[in-house]
Amino acid sequence: MLPLDTLRGHADRLAGTTLASLFDADPRRGERMSVRAGELYLDYSKNRLDDAVLADLVDAAERAGLPERARAMFAGEHINVTEDRSVLHVALRKPAGESLVVDGVDVVAQVHEVLGRMAELATAVRSGQWRGHTGERITHVVNIGIGGSDLGPRMVVRALRRYVDDGLTVRFVANVDGADLESALEGLDPQRTLFVVCSKTFTTAETLANATAARTWLVDALGDDAAVARHFVAVSTNADAVAEFGIDQHNMFGFWDWVGGRYSVTSAIGLSVMLAVGPDHFGELLAGFHDMDEHFRTAPLAENLPVLLGLIGVWERNGLGMQSLAVLPYAQDLELLPAYLQQLDMESNGKSVTLDGEPVGHDTGPIVWGQPGTNGQHAFYQLLHQGTTVVPCDMIAVLAPLSGLRSQHDQLLANCLAQTQALAFGRSRQEVVDSGVDPALAGHRTFPGNRPSNTILMSELTPRALGQLIAAYEHKVFTQGVLWDVNSFDQWGVELGKTLARALVAEMDGDGAGAELDSSTRRLLDLYRQAR
Ligand code: F6P
Repeated sequence: MLPLDTLRGHADRLAGTTLASLFDADPRRGERMSVRAGELYLDYSKNRLDDAVLADLVDAAERAGLPERARAMFAGEHINVTEDRSVLHVALRKPAGESLVVDGVDVVAQVHEVLGRMAELATAVRSGQWRGHTGERITHVVNIGIGGSDLGPRMVVRALRRYVDDGLTVRFVANVDGADLESALEGLDPQRTLFVVCSKTFTTAETLANATAARTWLVDALGDDAAVARHFVAVSTNADAVAEFGIDQHNMFGFWDWVGGRYSVTSAIGLSVMLAVGPDHFGELLAGFHDMDEHFRTAPLAENLPVLLGLIGVWERNGLGMQSLAVLPYAQDLELLPAYLQQLDMESNGKSVTLDGEPVGHDTGPIVWGQPGTNGQHAFYQLLHQGTTVVPCDMIAVLAPLSGLRSQHDQLLANCLAQTQALAFGRSRQEVVDSGVDPALAGHRTFPGNRPSNTILMSELTPRALGQLIAAYEHKVFTQGVLWDVNSFDQWGVELGKTLARALVAEMDGDGAGAELDSSTRRLLDLYRQAR
């Protein structure tokens, strides 16, 4: 049970306490409230909490059974209770030679068998040994997938821009809007293009529509169905559907039902990443994930980076009643991280029933959103600083520059740190007046401060550090799911919309009489049909 009364009691106790006073009372707060894990440094001192809050949060995690639940996950127990499945993305990054036997099968051996096949393909494509149907070298990879089969590889390829092979460009297509595929194919030579169709289920409407259209584009251009064998590979758990689509088993890379879509970037779903950066860098990425898995598994709760991130989020959501979380990477190469974390967090913990299927008695997952700094500063930060809604922020910065423009990196980091200062300490009305501002305007120029943020510093944006960062958020989400008593590994909430969309597609060519529609939907459908 989440100790709501305890959290609210702390919130009442701290209601008159500001971050400024907490820092004044403890000159070492900034160093003390920090933790290192791998190449990550988390400063959580600019949150509205004190040691008593943290102690009770850690106690709540213990009472909720976080250590046992983590152990059960790592052991392959079926903790995804609504689908009766293990949750074993952590097995995807275990080093070769380790073993984890689940339901009688050594899953680590299976994982490395697939990794080996992925490496063979990636090496062959990157070296030019793999040729297209007409004998041309592959220069473009197009990843077709959506949700977890898109966001992970898309974000990682973008983040590891500096590691991407010069000779290979990777593009991504997700949306069923044909404009997405059309723009991805713009300027591409079919003879030099390899499609990687990613879908855990291989039943997802968007992905099948895009893959079918891409196959038509290829076959029309090359004039031979046999071309598919040299230009299409698939990543899926559904071998039958892949075969039915016409992709040879040799060109299919499998994974398992114990890998959730949003946790799948370290499975074969990462094939486009491996093609882009090569097997060695992909191995480094996996090693980074494993570093954080081990930290999460072994570090005491009060010194555990993902656990602390999770507990602070629970405090903000359930103690302070905050509704959202802004993810603000001060690194352009991490520009897709907010979108990636949006799926990871919101699809995992956007739940309102407990593991037993009863209504939860507390708020669960926050709304996750964000954009890279400094861009956001010139757009929505106004609300962060002076709006009526308080939004906790995760600032993420990389110490080593991602460009050759050193002085711009100084500016970037200065902005990141300045924003955390402004959010936390603000600027009082008195300070504003004392600075010579007309008192009539002072209210407009006052910053209330006391707005929470975490700062995560990464030494460098290497594959290894990136793996550590992503895994930290995975385990943060796990921690929160345990405290909120929800199943973080299903996503039934996406199903109704899919079913209704299928029914409406069926109505497009009819007169609409077949579906029982409310007056709004019927009118909107009619307008579309008239416009067709
Ligand atoms: O509809 C939601 C979802 O199931 C996500 O959980 C998943 O990542 C995405 O669709 C894609 O699914 P698939 O990989 O099976 O195509």
